[in-house]
Amino acid sequence: TRVAIFVSGGGSNMVKLVESMTGDHPARPCVVLSNQTGAGGLVRAREMGVPTVAVDHRPFGKDRAAFEAALTEALAPYRPDLICLAGFMRVLTAGFVDGWRGRMLNIHPSLLPKYTGLHTHARALEAGDREAGCTVHEVTPVLDDGPILGQGRVPVEEGDTPDTLAARVLTMEHRLYPACLRRFVEGERDPLYLP
Ligand code: GRF
Repeated sequence: TRVAIFVSGGGSNMVKLVESMTGDHPARPCVVLSNQTGAGGLVRAREMGVPTVAVDHRPFGKDRAAFEAALTEALAPYRPDLICLAGFMRVLTAGFVDGWRGRMLNIHPSLLPKYTGLHTHARALEAGDREAGCTVHEVTPVLDDGPILGQGRVPVEEGDTPDTLAARVLTMEHRLYPACLRRFVEGERDPLYLP
């Protein structure tokens, strides 16, 4: 299975996914793509020997379909079978997502269905939640929805700030996403719950 990983920032999840696809793992990374030409994840991917491509979304303005046509064109040479969104911060249209239905995964930093969208850790803290976490799900046209492939829970600690909670959740993301990717590629659809 040829996996394309989409990043917008540092790409720490991408690094863990790439590092996991070795040995008898049936998948391999074929390209790391970013909408940010300066994304740190592109540098880290290149350091790991993974091809990279950047498609800046800004020239396309509000024309999401045109941006996504450029994405599709940029991806073509790498022939991906599966897309993993990993800290990718652009909303994809239903048209693009439908073209990848059943072949696109995402990781979201909350225990879905709670806290879809942004600022998930601040919202969990404001709500006084005792635990938080992350979710890997299949991407469907509804934002942060879709069949759940796995969830990782972490405790909320006294004095947590959004940053301290985000760091704890990110560590769990780095465990959860590689495990969910392998299960998905191997045809396992029962959700994985960590720890
Ligand atoms: C993090 O906030 C993470 O929770 C979310 O995307 C952001 C960046 O992740 N999944 P990464 O380090 O670029 O993978």
